[in-house]
Amino acid sequence: MEQRSILVTGGGRGLGRGLVERLARGGHRVLFTVRTVAAGDDTVAALRGVHPAAELVPIVVDLSVLADVARLGETLTEQGIALDVLFHNAGILQQSPVRLVTQEGREQTLAVNVLAPLVLTRALWPALRRGTRPRVVTVSSRLHLENARGGPPSFDFDDPGLERGYTADRAYKNSKLALLWFTFALARRAGRDVTVNGVCPGFVPTTAAASTTGLMRLVMRHIMPHMPFATRIEDAVASLAFMACDTALDGVTGAFYADQRPLAASAAAQDVGLQERFWTLAAQLAGCPPDWAG
Ligand SMILES: NC(=O)c1ccc[n+]([C@@H]2O[C@H](COP(=O)([O-])OP(=O)(O)OC[C@H]3O[C@@H](n4cnc5c(N)ncnc54)[C@H](OP(=O)(O)O)[C@@H]3O)[C@@H](O)[C@H]2O)c1
Repeated sequence: MEQRSILVTGGGRGLGRGLVERLARGGHRVLFTVRTVAAGDDTVAALRGVHPAAELVPIVVDLSVLADVARLGETLTEQGIALDVLFHNAGILQQSPVRLVTQEGREQTLAVNVLAPLVLTRALWPALRRGTRPRVVTVSSRLHLENARGGPPSFDFDDPGLERGYTADRAYKNSKLALLWFTFALARRAGRDVTVNGVCPGFVPTTAAASTTGLMRLVMRHIMPHMPFATRIEDAVASLAFMACDTALDGVTGAFYADQRPLAASAAAQDVGLQERFWTLAAQLAGCPPDWAG
């Protein structure tokens, strides 16, 4: 088996941790981000207990702070690493009904779910171009679709940070749509030198429970996993690992997947005009030039 060098964001818990374990077990070198040294140490200790030879490199970063995200990517790039897969797993669905902003003044969901992947991809672009059949994978969600529970996303290009009409649900759905705009616009620029695809892991109540509180958390942990529409965590992790490593995806770019199969993204996500409009807006919001990829 070919060993790949893979960076997974949000590897300390949830689906990201499952993915890190699966990739490390498969013999890959896995760099993964966490928010604290303790979370990194805990993950490494737990995984090495089961897989002593696992090649694991924890990296501490708060993805809501874009200056830190850029610095991390630039540091790794300057170290000369060759990155084969950049896997943007980390994401938030806020528990707070009130709009929260990052220390840099951006709406948090947009910053973590969309702008951080942009900034990290840009800073790691030279490292990816040194990789072997390099891939970028973004974790979006079926909740970006027109028929999403509770209604479709409603992204306002004049108010991307939702200063008006904020709800946590709206911020999340908008972010997952915007992440696909970013994904498809990047795929177009990268050609086949770096392939870029999005994925929905399915509805995984056991990990999604972290974004809930009280009674809902109990329901998510103990009742929802038995529902027919729920995805088992091992199946979701298998689907993410497929996106990261399966050779069936060599040369495939600009696609959206779920359950290891292509899935049509929403008409809005596939709209090239909207993708390009968002590409320009996202560069402004992240404070970087728009012409970095390709
Ligand atoms: N579970 C589902 O049903 C479902 C469905 C569709 C899509 N998704 C997507 O799948 C991905 C993984 O979901 P999950 O269920 O595993 O969620 P989770 O258990 O809540 O894990 C989220 C991960 O993101 C990290 N993260 C959040 N904010 C961060 C920040 N500011 N800086 C650094 N890391 C941050 C968390 O790290 P900390 O431990 O430091 O908080 C954690 O590792 C997300 O993008 C989610 O939107 C999930």
